[in-house]
Amino acid sequence: MGDARTRAGRVLDWLEVRLNITEIFSFLTNFGLFTAELDTKKPLRSALDEALARPMPSYARWPRVLGILTMLLFLLQCLTGTLLALYYRPTPEAAYDSVRMIVRDVTLGWFVQQVHFWGSALLIVILLIRLLRFFYDAIYKPPRELLWVIGFLLFIATTHADFTGKVMTFDSRNYWSATRSLEIFSHLPVVGSLFVFLAGGGDLSEVTLVRFYLAHIFILPTVLFILFYLHFQGVRHLGLSHREGEQSEGGRLVYHRYLLNLSILLTVVFALLVTVAVLLPHPFAAPPDLLSTPAGARPPWYLLPVYGFFEILPRWVPMPFKGSIVVLLGVGICILPFLDRSAPVQPSGRRGVIILGAMLLLIALLLGVYGYRHA
Ligand code: HEM
Repeated sequence: MGDARTRAGRVLDWLEVRLNITEIFSFLTNFGLFTAELDTKKPLRSALDEALARPMPSYARWPRVLGILTMLLFLLQCLTGTLLALYYRPTPEAAYDSVRMIVRDVTLGWFVQQVHFWGSALLIVILLIRLLRFFYDAIYKPPRELLWVIGFLLFIATTHADFTGKVMTFDSRNYWSATRSLEIFSHLPVVGSLFVFLAGGGDLSEVTLVRFYLAHIFILPTVLFILFYLHFQGVRHLGLSHREGEQSEGGRLVYHRYLLNLSILLTVVFALLVTVAVLLPHPFAAPPDLLSTPAGARPPWYLLPVYGFFEILPRWVPMPFKGSIVVLLGVGICILPFLDRSAPVQPSGRRGVIILGAMLLLIALLLGVYGYRHA
């Protein structure tokens, strides 16, 4: 054991003369694995010793592990997505058959596809929980404004990745769900119209499929990767947020506790993902019939509150007006740190804002249920 350690140490020393290992370690662990800043001019061991000795708020609180979990789920999406891309063909004539081949003929193809599908839903849910947690603990107050904005953009970009992926399956359910969603987008001034324009129009054509494919396998993953990097880089630069009464500790023990919590959470989450993928497989429907909409074709769940909002208001309310309210609300949430300029306080001191946020969430949930039933 001791021998192996000294051998590893010797390899590290050898590499350190030739490469900046601290810089490489710093980059690779930047995505939530190591949240303290490292002095990249020093050799790895002394940079680590120095960083671990600095007192920081206890890592061992569960919400902080959610950050790296989002990154790992994103990597899982990239891995399973790359496997699917080996067989997928992005043309309206071939897309459906290629997905059918993946789920029917390719060894374990169905499993990879289900993990990709459920992983996407889980990623969106966890990003949402993180945003709610940031809101509750006011982790958007100066100097953390950009962390909130980036977190919000991460959520939006991930829903776009989910949406474009669903369209790519080209079965009747997803085809009609996407057609309904594009209708919703077309009513959202500026952002929605831009999206429909970039998608190649309101109908799902060959142009849409090819653009969505490009967006799905290249543009959106790149954007997400950059956003993840900026987000974790910001966290590392600013340090973890403190709560009143929270103790600051330093040393390897705190970090080991963090790694232990992380491994427990990872085991639970991935076991859950595999169980759901096997026991609750998401059905793959028939090819799209362009003349009839199948029952149960509704926009994806994260668009249901918007759909419900459009449907619950009387028809005489102009669509551009309804759409403007949704866009203004979205922009408001994105720039929340610049709107809420009150002094940073603990949750108990900002009950009003929290109650307002909880009411908005409840309304969104009720509108979502309404949208679901209405469709
Ligand atoms: C955060 C990143 C990603 C998310 C959220 C995501 C989400 C999705 C979703 C929800 C589907 C539809 C699955 C279904 O309805 O059965 C899908 C399909 C697909 N994705 Fe992704 N994906 C991501 C990244 C990637 C990447 C990086 C690639 C390839 C390099 C990829 C390749 C594919 C392919 C080829 C399909 C169509 C085949 C099929 O549905 O089985 N995905 N994606």
